[in-house]
Amino acid sequence: MIIAIDGPAASGKGTISKRIADYFSLPHLDTGSLYRLAAHHIIENNIDPYDINNIIKSSKEINFSEKKLLDIRDSNVSYTASIISQYKELRELLIDYQRNFASDGGVVDGRDIGTIIFPNADYKFFITASLEERANRRYLQYKEDNIKLDRNSIKTDIKDRDLRDMNRKIAPLKRAIDAVEIDTTSMKIDDVIDFIVKYIHKGMKFD
Ligand code: DC
Repeated sequence: MIIAIDGPAASGKGTISKRIADYFSLPHLDTGSLYRLAAHHIIENNIDPYDINNIIKSSKEINFSEKKLLDIRDSNVSYTASIISQYKELRELLIDYQRNFASDGGVVDGRDIGTIIFPNADYKFFITASLEERANRRYLQYKEDNIKLDRNSIKTDIKDRDLRDMNRKIAPLKRAIDAVEIDTTSMKIDDVIDFIVKYIHKGMKFD
C-alpha cells in the first residue's frame, strides 16, 4: 500500500505521515529531507543556489540513502532547499530513490508525491492549514528546540516558500485531483490521524 501525503510548509504532514506509517507498519519517507540534504551539501560547499551546473555536479556526490543528515530544519536550509528544488535535473536525480524506497509500500510525504512520484498511490491526502496556524506551529517547534525566531519572520519565510513551491514550472506543489484535502487549521493531530485511518480502512473494505 502506498500512501501519498502532500501539503505546504509546516502543514503538519511530516508528523501525520510518521504516525500513519507507524499505524500501518509501513516505512516512512519525508522527501523534503532529500532536498534539505542537497541544500545542506551545497551550503557546506559554498555553492551559489542559482549555480545550477555546480549544484547538479555536487548533488551527484551525495549518498541519498545516508540518513544521518536528513533532519536539518534551519531557515537557511529550508530557503535553499526551496530554491534548488526548482531545478528539473535535481528532481530527476531523486525520482528513483523515492520510488525504490516505497516499492514494497510506504507512506511518502512531500509536494509532488500524489502528482508525479506516485500518481497511482492507493491513497492520497493533501494536508493544509491557514498560514497563521502553520507559522504558529513552526514557531512553537523552534521554541521547543531553543531556536529564537520571531513569528513574523517565520510567517514571511513560509509564505515565500509556498509561493515558490506552488509557482515553479516543474512538479509544483498542488493537490492531485484524486487527493482528499484535509484542512487541519482547527483540528487536533489525533483527529487528523483518526480521520485518515478510518478513511483508509473504509477504502480497504472495498478493494
Ligand atoms: O517538506 P519540507 O518543508 O522539509 O521541504 C523543503 C523544501 O523541499 C520545500 O520548500 C520544497 C522542496 N520539496 C520539493 O520540492 N518536493 C518535495 N517532494 C519535497 C520537498
